[in-house]
Amino acid sequence: MDAPSRFYVTTPIYYVNDKPHIGHAYTTILADVLARYHRLLGVPTWFLTGTDEHGQKVQRAAEENGISPQEQCDRTVVRFLGLWEKLDITCDDFIRTTESRHIEVVQGILQDLYDRGEIYADDYQGWYCVPCERFFTEKDLVGDKCPECGRAVERLVERNYFFRMSRYQDWLVEHIRTHPDFIRPEHRRQETLGFLRQPLGDLCISRPKARLAWGIELPFDSDYVTYVWFDALINYISAVGYGKDPETFRRWWPASMQLIGKDILTTHTVYWPIMLRAVGLPMPDTVFAHGWWLVGKDKMSKSLGNVVNPMEMAERYGADAFRYFLMAEMTLGQDASFTEQAFVTRYNADLANDLGNLASRVLKMVFRHFDGKMPPKPPPKESDAPLREAALSAAREMEKVLRQMQLDRGMARVMAAVREGNRYFEKSAPWKLTAPENRAQLGGVLYNTAECLRIVSGLFYPVMPERMGLLRQALGIAEEPVGPRLELLQEWGGLGPGGACRPLKALFPRIDVRAKSVIATAASGKPGAKREPAGESKEQIDLETFGRMQLRTAVVLEAERVEGAKKLLKLRIDLGDEQRQLVAGVAEHYRPEELTGKTIVVVANLKPAVIRGVESQGMLLAAKAGKALRLLTVDGEVPPGADIS
Ligand code: MSP
Repeated sequence: MDAPSRFYVTTPIYYVNDKPHIGHAYTTILADVLARYHRLLGVPTWFLTGTDEHGQKVQRAAEENGISPQEQCDRTVVRFLGLWEKLDITCDDFIRTTESRHIEVVQGILQDLYDRGEIYADDYQGWYCVPCERFFTEKDLVGDKCPECGRAVERLVERNYFFRMSRYQDWLVEHIRTHPDFIRPEHRRQETLGFLRQPLGDLCISRPKARLAWGIELPFDSDYVTYVWFDALINYISAVGYGKDPETFRRWWPASMQLIGKDILTTHTVYWPIMLRAVGLPMPDTVFAHGWWLVGKDKMSKSLGNVVNPMEMAERYGADAFRYFLMAEMTLGQDASFTEQAFVTRYNADLANDLGNLASRVLKMVFRHFDGKMPPKPPPKESDAPLREAALSAAREMEKVLRQMQLDRGMARVMAAVREGNRYFEKSAPWKLTAPENRAQLGGVLYNTAECLRIVSGLFYPVMPERMGLLRQALGIAEEPVGPRLELLQEWGGLGPGGACRPLKALFPRIDVRAKSVIATAASGKPGAKREPAGESKEQIDLETFGRMQLRTAVVLEAERVEGAKKLLKLRIDLGDEQRQLVAGVAEHYRPEELTGKTIVVVANLKPAVIRGVESQGMLLAAKAGKALRLLTVDGEVPPGADIS
């Protein structure tokens, strides 16, 4: 499938009743990542976000803060703008619904619909939920309470204006049926079709000013303001020039991808398409509803005090790492869980250990042995085929992953290429090739690993623009600010020989988990997890699975007891090219001094775990029989860091 001819992506516009949280940050980062990928594909792209500034929520927040609603908007919008700057969001436009460019379009549409009889006045009786700003019928209520938020509702009778939504029900069902990509993922499409199995009522689109003054005045009745959703949804077209700038509007509308959270599915897949239809406009290609970020297993809420502040995360760990975590961790369409602990574990494993380490090791050797100039491209060899294939297949896959909205899978593919890079580097052991007669071979290994990093950094660029930009500069790649074209990442050998590299400071410095009170235990590789008794496992693994494990020799440099843990020893080990810390449950079998100097066998690519507050970067192997435990060692003299296969 070819790349689209243009890409217009939108986020919901966010209420300005409070400061932004991780949910707002997520949708906006997702839109930014999609926009950046499309730019790298050379597709003309427009990315819109903004703020929803009218309605009860904002009016109430203003009252609570003792300020005018406009002041409430002006004070809060800067928090969103500041966050987007911090998170490197490259939106092309930011719309505020209090801007006249928006208000005029809303009023124009209202007048037109009113003139054409699509909007009519009637008495309305119903149950009204103030926080949700919605009327409900008797049968909607759940135990006399609001079905959305569970709070008390009020009985109201009032004269209002209604939009004839009901007459479009059959058309909408047909449109959804015949356009499988219109609502994604599929289970959300089914949810909307399910909703549409009930008769659709008309939509009350006005609020008497006596009850709510903060909104866009109806052009045909100055006693009323517009229902906030009817106003807000129109931002997607008012921002791109509807009714004012036909050329711009034709260029961008219909939107390619309208991102929303699952909480606002009905407004976007029922109200919005019908509004567009009544106005006579084409439908967006896709409305995509992502899941929610939970905190651990809980819903995020102010009352639980677990609201994650994205500004703090970006300040503490860097915007790129935060962006990476959010993109890698959530499978689009499903809920995902955020904890700072899971964040740090993934950061240390993927970014600090795998990606950052590889980059710094390669570049250090290019400086040490090639004076900071990229060595020439070597002829392909069978031994570097898996490396080339891992990098190129991640690059080839990226477009498909984008179309299918499987960004987490795309991230995992790129990370697999990084791991292959580490495996290749370890296997090739360039530190053993420093003699003059091995120069060509040494250059080849460094080139190949750097070339893998060129592709990887390009693929990760939309997610981590700042850090990947630095890495690309360090690799001697000169490119325009927009970043690498994706097609250039699908060919091996793009690094020019002799290119001047730049020294690279740690891209992703390790986060010392001991320093963080939040990190009590690592999210993965939990210590103390139950194991199957020896010999009882029936599961068989294939060679590839086994090959993913990096077993290496290491020499124990120091060993000491872990305070308060009678079974544990903390070891400092030498892996040839680096030193690490391990925690091992061997204290009942070895005294610390018995271990120093021993050559042991360790799993070198195990995700770091925190055991009793001490980080363990790998695991040693030991044989256990009953109460006896003996360490695995090697038969004869082998240097530290030797591969075990
Ligand atoms: N103003 C309306 C949207 C109008 S669009 C025409 C609104 N605003 S909101 O401030 O409440 O933001 C809602 C959006 O924020 C969700 O649709 C979703 O994109 C994001 N999130 C809010 N909480 C979230 C999570 N816990 N997890 C993920 N995203 C969620 O609704």
